[in-house]
Amino acid sequence: MTDRLQQFKKDGFLIVENLAEATACDELIARTKELSFAYDVEGHRSIFQTRDQSKTTDDYFLNSGDKIAFFFEKDAFDKEGNLNRDVFHALNKVGHALHDLDPVFSRFSRSVQLQELAADLNLSHHVLIQSMLICKHARIGGEVDVHQDSTFLYTEPGSCIGFWFALEDATQENGCLWAKPGGHQTSLRSRFRRKEGGGTMMEVLNDEPYAMDGMIPLEVKKGTCIVLDGLLPHYSLPNTSGRSRFAYAIHTVDQNCIYPADNWLQVDREQLKGFVA
Ligand code: FE2
Repeated sequence: MTDRLQQFKKDGFLIVENLAEATACDELIARTKELSFAYDVEGHRSIFQTRDQSKTTDDYFLNSGDKIAFFFEKDAFDKEGNLNRDVFHALNKVGHALHDLDPVFSRFSRSVQLQELAADLNLSHHVLIQSMLICKHARIGGEVDVHQDSTFLYTEPGSCIGFWFALEDATQENGCLWAKPGGHQTSLRSRFRRKEGGGTMMEVLNDEPYAMDGMIPLEVKKGTCIVLDGLLPHYSLPNTSGRSRFAYAIHTVDQNCIYPADNWLQVDREQLKGFVA
């Protein structure tokens, strides 16, 4: 067993510094800016300005698995539903198929360094199923409640593993990740899935609250990759600082595991690729 795998199995997460070069991190942020300014906000007004807000937003979200879709901070709209800042600075995240659809993101998602890391972690059967660019802009970037990634990418048996890249230094001030070493030694609490007849629901599997004692801030430098076990409870606080905290997250699952048809994310599984394109 490699040192990396041993550490990952012990803690439920693994911090790998300098996995991505600074220039590659900058490139992803620049590309996000480009994509967001090319996004037709007016053409998508209905998503943010409908009386049946939750359903329309839900549909947009549910159909984003094989697209590049844009999600905004809730505080970025005025009462009339207009953005109160430029589209880039209003973004919460972009997802969920950047790794397949955009050449800049695809290259980043299949770097030699990442291929080596995946090999060290014995992930030869894992495929890239989802990617997200998370902005967490200065002052407006919201918190992400404590959760387990396997809630959203459920397989039988559980196999979800995330690769979270700090595209900028992540500190407590700008909302770094928090987790507890060994926190993955627990059960899956819930499963986010599609409801019959449309929409989504959170199915509770175990209502025991997460053990929050011992959570530590994972403050990391730009270019660091944090590998996350799908069972590891983790969260991040709002960004109250004057500095953004861009991150890019790729999620993978084992191709040989069962992937239920009512998982929120439905993609053509035959088309899924690993870290080597
Ligand atoms: Fe997460």
